Amino acid sequence: MLRELIRTGGMPAGTLMPPSRSVADAFGVSRGVVVTAYEQLLAEGFLLARQGSGTWVADSVTGADPTPKPSAPPPVARPGLPDLGGFPRTRWLAAYRHALSTMSNADFGYGDPRGHERLRVELAGHLRRTRGAVVDPELMLVVNGVAEGLALLADVVAATERRRIAVEDPASPGARDLMARRGLTVVGVPVDAEGIVADAIPEPAQLGAILLTPAHQYPTGVLLSATRRRALIELARTHDVMLIEDDYDGAFRYDRNPVGCLQGLAPDVTVLLGSVSKTLAPALRLGWLAGPLAWHERLVDRRVITNLAGQAMDQLAFAHLLLTGGYDKHVRQMRHRYRLRRSHLVAELAAARLDVVVRGDASGLHLLAELPPRVDERTVLSSLRLNGFDVQGLSECRLGCPPEVPGGLIIGYAALAPTSITRLVSALGKAID
Ligand SMILES: Cc1ncc(COP(=O)(O)O)c(C=O)c1O
Repeated sequence: MLRELIRTGGMPAGTLMPPSRSVADAFGVSRGVVVTAYEQLLAEGFLLARQGSGTWVADSVTGADPTPKPSAPPPVARPGLPDLGGFPRTRWLAAYRHALSTMSNADFGYGDPRGHERLRVELAGHLRRTRGAVVDPELMLVVNGVAEGLALLADVVAATERRRIAVEDPASPGARDLMARRGLTVVGVPVDAEGIVADAIPEPAQLGAILLTPAHQYPTGVLLSATRRRALIELARTHDVMLIEDDYDGAFRYDRNPVGCLQGLAPDVTVLLGSVSKTLAPALRLGWLAGPLAWHERLVDRRVITNLAGQAMDQLAFAHLLLTGGYDKHVRQMRHRYRLRRSHLVAELAAARLDVVVRGDASGLHLLAELPPRVDERTVLSSLRLNGFDVQGLSECRLGCPPEVPGGLIIGYAALAPTSITRLVSALGKAID
């Protein structure tokens, strides 16, 4: 209690400690307890004492409260976040209870480094049905989110002679930096209204891999066209390049049925990555990786040396949610919610006549609002952030940023209630004026 008071600045440096007897009276404890506490705090350096001068609070220890204060409002509009309040707690609890009560004793061991077989089988069926993927459960890895899948793939590519990876430009800075920080040379390739410009990929024979977001290009939101899909597959087969498909939000499409994944067209050269971070919650750290045999052994090997195996309880709970249809039901409910939120945002932006252009398809959890050329992206971003909206700037996603390209805002709408959307658009209006 006294330690906490000192640490949090309740008793500033230099404060003379009251005599032990008065503290004992105030707290209703014996004097011996207080003397012991003072001795302890003296030994730990919180207090200093000098014969005849008393005991006082040492400097350098006050106000160093390591606990963050919950004063700032939680950031909103961050792209990529689902509506965390929509997490299906009751369904997950039931699935988790089922998993725990039906697990065999062996399931509590290290298990298969590829993930529990029951989940791999359920996931393979699910991805076949919903994403048109061609997945063999034997060639699948359950990973701790797309991030871990990317890290494993980066390590496998980095161990080859072709340590170069082409990425879309603009792209998710997180995914791109992860590749660079694992030793790969990152090469940017422009994106247009049909997705990555396949013809502009430099020196394909020198590449180890190409990182793509075909269903909903991050951050522009465009769908990779059929022509570009074919061109990329041909390039990959000709030059023996791995296509990494980050299918991060492919479950959400609002204007038509979801477009099948690239991996379903070319399972021989494509690795499919996905996770429940957009559909359930990032906190689960549950994702999947499905790739060709040629890469499989090396990926499993990386998995073993980074993290022996995954978390069987969560995996089995997720398998149960898939098997019982609870996952599909949840995704349907969230799709409906996000469709409404996206429409609301688009309508509010149009009604406010802000001269911003909404780019990309009606899918995913974010949209790109291109700013008028006269408007400075950084100024708008700081103004929005001051209003509590953690919107991402398009320039943060660019590798090479030609100055003549207009700025843009990547707005995550999935976690924004309609009133927050209205507030955001009004704050944007003021920032642009
Ligand atoms: C482009 C992209 N890929 C993948 C992810 C998800 O990563 P993870 O599955 O590791 O949570 C995100 C999250 O924001 C993302 O923006």
